[in-house]
Amino acid sequence: MTAVPPSALGHSYGSSTEQCTVPVARRVDCHPQPGATQENCEARGCTWCATDIPNAPSCFFSEDSGYGYSLVTLDKRSTVSLFGNDISPIVMDVEFQTKDRLRFKVSILGEDAIIRPTPHQPTIDANYDVEFSPDSSRFQVKRKSTGTVPLVDMFFSNQYLQITTAVPSTSVYGFGEQEHVSFKHNMDFVTYGMFSRDQAPTPLANLYGVHPFYMCVEDDSNAHGVLLLNSNAQDVSLSPNPSLTFRTIGGILDFYVFLGPTPENVIQQYTEAIGRPHMPAYWSLGFHLSRWGYPSLDVVKETVERMHQYDIPFDVQHFDIDYMDRRLDFTYDKTNYAGLPEYIKELKTEGMHSVIILDPFISKDEEPGTYRPYDLGQEMGVWINNSDGVTPAIGKSLPPGYSVFPDYTNPRTVEWWTQLCLEFKDVLDYDGIWIDMNEPSNDLTGQLPGCAANDINNPPYIPSITGRSLSQKTLCPDSKTYLGEHYNTHSLFGCVVQQATGKRAFVLSRSTFVGSGKHAAHWLGDNNSKWKDMHYSIIGMLEFNLFGIPFVGADICGFNSNTTYELCLRWTQLGSFYPFSRNHNAEGNAAQDPAVFGAQFAKIARSALRIRYSLLPYLYTLFFESHVHGNTVVRSLMHEFTSDQQTHGIDTAFLWGPAFMVAPVLQEASTII
Ligand code: GLC
Repeated sequence: MTAVPPSALGHSYGSSTEQCTVPVARRVDCHPQPGATQENCEARGCTWCATDIPNAPSCFFSEDSGYGYSLVTLDKRSTVSLFGNDISPIVMDVEFQTKDRLRFKVSILGEDAIIRPTPHQPTIDANYDVEFSPDSSRFQVKRKSTGTVPLVDMFFSNQYLQITTAVPSTSVYGFGEQEHVSFKHNMDFVTYGMFSRDQAPTPLANLYGVHPFYMCVEDDSNAHGVLLLNSNAQDVSLSPNPSLTFRTIGGILDFYVFLGPTPENVIQQYTEAIGRPHMPAYWSLGFHLSRWGYPSLDVVKETVERMHQYDIPFDVQHFDIDYMDRRLDFTYDKTNYAGLPEYIKELKTEGMHSVIILDPFISKDEEPGTYRPYDLGQEMGVWINNSDGVTPAIGKSLPPGYSVFPDYTNPRTVEWWTQLCLEFKDVLDYDGIWIDMNEPSNDLTGQLPGCAANDINNPPYIPSITGRSLSQKTLCPDSKTYLGEHYNTHSLFGCVVQQATGKRAFVLSRSTFVGSGKHAAHWLGDNNSKWKDMHYSIIGMLEFNLFGIPFVGADICGFNSNTTYELCLRWTQLGSFYPFSRNHNAEGNAAQDPAVFGAQFAKIARSALRIRYSLLPYLYTLFFESHVHGNTVVRSLMHEFTSDQQTHGIDTAFLWGPAFMVAPVLQEASTII
């Protein structure tokens, strides 16, 4: 493993000409928010040298910035301050957790810190060591057998924490949830924001979930993984030297390093720490059919019928918000979906399964006494509250009127939710729950009457997230949840809903956080019916396998806009090999189930899905391995053939476990079909 010497980062002495001799590739951004000028850069004690290299910083750190270590506590060593309120000293706690897992944590002295000699004397024979440089200004995590992963400058203030780490190669994978255009990251000054958001996949945008985890394959093919366990809004910048700069606006810097040495070992060690993926029910590995916009139960029935007529393998029917009465959770439309309870029973007797959608907002504007989910929740006090901690936060979403938002971090909310899910199962005998919009999504910017002007709602630094706003499409950060301020718990929302929803049953969740794989499957959200989206779905699927959520897939044939015969056919072939295989479509688009395009299409879909079905015992076994040992189910070619550098950038094909490769057609007009 070759390590970039820490001293290579950001020199800044003397004249501007000398400043400009610092290679751009080595710069660490000292003005991460928009609007850097020489004046405001130098005013905060940073170095300025204009560059026109796209996204490269003109304002960067000098080498004496950040904190110097004095083994146990860390004192600020320079006057550079990015956003004020810097804290000094801080404390670093290093823990040898297992022979392949190291945790180091930086926190405020006296608050979250346990002061122990740092690093701890290892009581286990670890495969790594932690070493401090002679002047104690930097430390390294050293793989005993080979080399080092050095860590450099840190900043620590009330609402701004930053750490830069050099990485030993540019084969870096992971970080989410974004739509990445390549599996192996581009390291040329790319920044990814992480903050859960109701956001359709768009390159670089922060999407539904948060996974501050990456894996790096070193030059000698050993791999390591790193998790920053932090739920605050954050971003990470990837620089070409190569290095990573993490910035988060709260919590602590709580890092876990997984030493591998194989990519598979890294994920096994990662899921050992965060929770192994759940063991899915066998039926849920079959083909799922869904759409938003079945206007009536009759249309669902016709669709199911034509699937059977063409004998297309098919096990699960989803019911999107159309089945609800006016989009109210725990109701069904007694006009357009009259007979739904009986139909779900009928499907069950045929051996099929049903999944219903539930959204995490509850209308507060139904007639009192007519809508039990609200009345009971109100009685039990289960909502997210305004900053006063007493009055419920009121937002607007799909149901009529205004809505409140269940606070799933509160054990009483779990009771309320469980009770309603059980009662509703007596009405509709569903087999799985699809939890949508759980970022949590809100049509307003913050709740009524808007967010107060304070540092929590408008922190000095807002990470590189869409709109540079913490309240857009969600609640105000100073809202109160049982676990604390929404500022800190926002990105956990999706994950806590999953925990509340179930174990062995099928739970599909749009928002996810570190550890969500223990409870739920995930789909990659509201993609487009475009060829490039089909390609990106492979990348997303590979990434979620790194995140310990192997039960993953994208909407086959695309969600937004109309698909085409050819795209849908190719996507059906690819999607037959998603661990979670579901065709789903948005309201207003033409039907795209595999039976709607006629006999030729149906024949090809049938044959692709039959290959899937013939391999289900293998897929189920892979999930068992994943559940017990933390293995990936789907993996990249790099993952298995790590020493072959040519595999590092391949994301157009993938493997099921170690033994089965899928190389789909991803381009239009590849052959005549
Ligand atoms: C969201 C979901 C999508 C669903 C729609 C209607 O956009 O991501 O899958 O169909 O809401 O419920």
